[in-house]
Amino acid sequence: MSEIQETLLQSLEAFQTTQLVKNKYENILEHLDSGVILFDSEGVLTFINVQMARLLEISRKSLTGLTLLQILRHPQLSRYKKKKILRIYRETIFHRKRYHELSDETGRQWLLTVTYGDQMDGDFLFSVKDVSDFKQIEQTAYRNDKLAMLGKISASIAHEIRNPLTAIRGFIQLLRPHLTKLGKDEYARIILTEIDRANDIIYEFLNSSKPSAPQTTVIPVSSLLKEVVLLTESEALMNGCEVVLLDESTPLHISVDVKQIKQVILNIIKNAMDAIADQGHEHTGRIEIRTRKDHKNVNICISDNGKGMDHITLSHLFDPFFTTKETGTGLGLSVSYRIIKNHRGYISVDSKVGKGTEFVISLPIVEMS
Ligand SMILES: Nc1ncnc2c1ncn2[C@@H]1O[C@H](COP(=O)(O)OP(=O)(O)O)[C@@H](O)[C@H]1O
Ligand SMILES: [Mg+2]
Repeated sequence: MSEIQETLLQSLEAFQTTQLVKNKYENILEHLDSGVILFDSEGVLTFINVQMARLLEISRKSLTGLTLLQILRHPQLSRYKKKKILRIYRETIFHRKRYHELSDETGRQWLLTVTYGDQMDGDFLFSVKDVSDFKQIEQTAYRNDKLAMLGKISASIAHEIRNPLTAIRGFIQLLRPHLTKLGKDEYARIILTEIDRANDIIYEFLNSSKPSAPQTTVIPVSSLLKEVVLLTESEALMNGCEVVLLDESTPLHISVDVKQIKQVILNIIKNAMDAIADQGHEHTGRIEIRTRKDHKNVNICISDNGKGMDHITLSHLFDPFFTTKETGTGLGLSVSYRIIKNHRGYISVDSKVGKGTEFVISLPIVEMS
């Protein structure tokens, strides 16, 4: 073999190997679970992988070779996505932003990273990955952290405040007849209600701070719910709303600390009544309580037709001290969250402004043999 032939053969082999490697990498890129899309310096799409096409809900074939402008005019591109793409474009070009957090129509969260500059030869590479689970874990961790801290602080100060309050309450009661004589009974009444309010806050505080392994008993869900509804009836009447308990067909049992779970349901019903009251007097309030079996859990659904919540309220709902009410403590739901978590259950919420809210408490079912 001549020298030339040998060199040719070598370069051919080298070429084949690069081609193989290239195919391999392209293949990997194509089937990555992150979405990848590449534009050249003229704004023409030169590469898009399977996942990205799936996210855009447009076939890869009909996208390759299009410019960004043409993609924006693509008949299959939803308005929602069009808006998002325009926003990303603006922020990338004008504000040089390289990371974008996005949520899609179904509420999943995505992180989009833009790479461009010297290392990219004028190309723009966009990659998106689903970070919903991560976000969820982050949020839960943050919430648990806050609750643990709240627990420590409250345990140490609650008792210290409660004792003097009890003493004050006692003395005011002793003074009450004298105040009445002076025509100042109103003062005594105000002092007493304010002390009771302070005590309520401390009570909720203490409850949230207890490391409380729940004192569990096995009980049918329906009887627990019946008792709770009885407790709320008079207040519901006063607020001009009805509390309706829809019975399940088969009896389901749960193993719970009855007092604690009652407190959770009462908290949620009480919030529902407040949300209904905010809708005005003409509005007929209705709170519905249903139970549903769901695999190994029982779901207790509590829905109201009150004022509902916007997404800012929704995202802070379980934070200690978060309240939108003038006289709220913001502890009801954070305590409830903790109680349900201690029972190895979870709470979820769905709400629409002006329409209403549904809380779902899921607790493990106890199989009765
Ligand atoms: N059913 C509901 N409808 C509308 N908003 C609600 C509902 N439940 C809770 N919220 C909102 O969540 C906030 C926190 O509730 P919670 O922890 O019980 O504290 P509080 O009732 O003392 O404000 C409330 O202030 C309210 O804005
Ligand atoms: Mg409340």
